[in-house]
Amino acid sequence: MPDPTVPMSHVMPTYGRLPVALSHGRGCRVWDIAGTEYLDALAGIAVNTLGHAHPRFTAALQDQVGKLIHTSNYYQVPLQEQLAAKLVEISGLQNVFFCNSGLEANEGALKIARKYGHDVLGFDIPQTLVFEGAFHGRSLATLSATANPKIQAGFAPLVPGFVRAPLNDIAAVERLLDANPQTSAIFLETIQGEGGINPARIEFLQGLRRVADERKLLLMLDEVQCGIGRTGKWFAHQWAGIQPDVMPLAKGLGSGVPIGAIVCGPKAAGVLTAGNHGTTFGGNPLAMRAGVETLAIMESDGLVAHAGLMGERLGAALREGLAGQAGVVEVRGQGLMIGIELDRPCGVLLQRALDAKLLISVTADRVIRLLPPLIVSPAEIDEIAARLLPLIKAFLQEPKP
Ligand SMILES: Cc1ncc(COP(=O)(O)O)c(C=O)c1O
Repeated sequence: MPDPTVPMSHVMPTYGRLPVALSHGRGCRVWDIAGTEYLDALAGIAVNTLGHAHPRFTAALQDQVGKLIHTSNYYQVPLQEQLAAKLVEISGLQNVFFCNSGLEANEGALKIARKYGHDVLGFDIPQTLVFEGAFHGRSLATLSATANPKIQAGFAPLVPGFVRAPLNDIAAVERLLDANPQTSAIFLETIQGEGGINPARIEFLQGLRRVADERKLLLMLDEVQCGIGRTGKWFAHQWAGIQPDVMPLAKGLGSGVPIGAIVCGPKAAGVLTAGNHGTTFGGNPLAMRAGVETLAIMESDGLVAHAGLMGERLGAALREGLAGQAGVVEVRGQGLMIGIELDRPCGVLLQRALDAKLLISVTADRVIRLLPPLIVSPAEIDEIAARLLPLIKAFLQEPKP
């Protein structure tokens, strides 16, 4: 029976929500509707690159709202050209399709993989190689590419055409490609986010690039969570000195305004042609202005290098604070994408962190995930560590469930 004293929600109950409603923010701080202040070490899950209410970003969006929010892709949209040119410049790739979210960027990438298989490789049933631990979104195709049976449950039949490989095992990849000769693309997150902050190792990424080149396959790197400066380079794969053929982006690109992008290199740039793909909202002037301003502010304020430095500071504070602590499996990640893996499920830490006025995430049951805004200051990094470390230590003193 529903509790009659609790007002009924008219929002579909698809999320387990914490009992707090946020009202406004500034920088890395947010306040709830009762006026309590929190330190944001989550950035809306790697979205609020510039934190909250960034003065220059806010002014640019206000200007854009007063001019033009949406037209249609029936017309030229100069801001699309501007943002695409910048993404091409910082990635070294060739062209961009704009959409509205991470799953849409990945869905489009999967369509490119299929069409490349048909048109370029002459396959009749193209397959995509995906990985254990992957998360690519919740549409039917991206859910099928995802490796989490919990979130796939109830949605069978899944979309066919996926072959799954273990991460960081190049010999297994080659064996699976031999066994599935109609594979047209290799698709993975450069650093797995929802799967528990699991980086694809540099030698593995280099190996995948080699294998994709030898077999004329597309290498598609999902940088929805790890891209846009978060790891201390514009894109996480740049640490490996390689380039993908297809790179889906979203999250941090609009610093809070919904946006997605599929950035393509020469092998993939011509696969989709007029009439093959489209979206009503994708690339609208408001989202494009958000992307243009986010990248411009990141560049003028040196936020990519800053993210790298702040990530090192946070990683060092956590490693030092947790050294020798029983129950800590590993502190890992790159830049401001950090996971602390414990030896037990730790979802209860979400509420405890909230009580300590800190916003964090727990993913893959046992991994505390930190994704602060890229504008985070050294003092705020120290504050994140100071609030979080005692919670972890106290939690690990409790009997293991
Ligand atoms: C790596 C990765 N890909 C895709 C997605 C899906 O993005 P969205 O939630 O915008 O659909 C996410 C979301 O967490 C993600 O982390």
